[in-house]
Amino acid sequence: MEHHIAIADGVYWVGVNDRRTKLFESMWPLPHGVSYNAYLIDDEKVVLIDAVKDLFSGDLAGNLHALLGGSRPVDYLVINHIEPDHSGAVQLLRQLFPQMQIVGNKKTVEFLQHLHGIGDNLLVVQDGDELALGRRTLRFALTPMVHWPETMMTYLAEEGILFSGDAFGGFGTLERGIFDDMLPEHVLVEDEALRYYSNIVGRVSPMVQNALKKLAGLELKMVAPTHGLVWRGNPRRIVDLYDRWSRYQAEEAVVLAYASMYGNTERIMEAVAHALTRAGVRDLRVHNVAESHPSYILRDIWRARGLVIGTPTYELGVFPMVDNLLSMLHEKRLCERTLGIFGSYGWSGGGVKGVQEFAAKMKWEVVEPVVEARFATKAEHLVQVEQMARALAKRVREFHPA
Ligand code: FEO
Repeated sequence: MEHHIAIADGVYWVGVNDRRTKLFESMWPLPHGVSYNAYLIDDEKVVLIDAVKDLFSGDLAGNLHALLGGSRPVDYLVINHIEPDHSGAVQLLRQLFPQMQIVGNKKTVEFLQHLHGIGDNLLVVQDGDELALGRRTLRFALTPMVHWPETMMTYLAEEGILFSGDAFGGFGTLERGIFDDMLPEHVLVEDEALRYYSNIVGRVSPMVQNALKKLAGLELKMVAPTHGLVWRGNPRRIVDLYDRWSRYQAEEAVVLAYASMYGNTERIMEAVAHALTRAGVRDLRVHNVAESHPSYILRDIWRARGLVIGTPTYELGVFPMVDNLLSMLHEKRLCERTLGIFGSYGWSGGGVKGVQEFAAKMKWEVVEPVVEARFATKAEHLVQVEQMARALAKRVREFHPA
């Protein structure tokens, strides 16, 4: 089905919704799908901003044909980000429009050669360069590492539209409308935008801060990313959220992530959850790591000031699925969290010790006492749980987001 939606005079969304891919990057669940947003600017020159995954090349070609007919070509393809979910259609586009120039920076050209074997019809741009289209002008801003080294953004100055690549994107298809102001609520949108941020972009948060500084003076009437909603009603909302998330700012909330093999660690988890609630924690999310995908746990931890990890001991160490979560947190370089730790063991400890070593590596504050039961929970452990929960609740309350 052909799809094109006007987002401004002569500017169109020509992207696709992907409901077939179940795991983004073969890792992150897509229960609500994902969109690959491409945009067409129809001026004296015709420009396509980013493309789509190869699987959907035909859909993109149909969208372009519906707008341009068979007579007008695409003059430029701007590649803000060359990851295959946006550049997969490039070969078909070159067949359809043999004169089309590919616009990118030095790094884009390098990757284009290695990824697609393309080395001709290129227009190399640098930070701040402009490209005149006739009535309007594109300006390019290099924003490396948001999300790959070649990443850049393109600003259509006369319309105030920022084509931002992966930045400001989110998971989820767009059948309910492509604009933020067409949705009745934003809760799921924000959750899915944060899941996207923490899973895909979070590791490069300092580079996101660099990019935001570069965008500071721009008049933003619309933010048009390569995934998820086009932010037209309130473009500042997603920019401000990215600012918060990339500063590691968190809310007065706690995540309790645990695993349990025989129910002993789970009993401590229940005591911890009750104690946290008694201590005044109102925003508490509990995840059994054997059941929740790390994608969701990571998202929730990104927004919570406090975290409690509970692990049984397995093969003298941290339970594998807890260990996987810890290594993901380390990989994503999440800063400034306060941690409570509990666990259990049978004949040999190791689980709790492993979480303590993780906390030291992350330079996270650990509240005392750390609670560790041998086999079953005893009365003394419940006393310790109460103390740990009160200490954590206090630290979370004391934290005031800037
Ligand atoms: Fe949507 Fe980094 O690709």
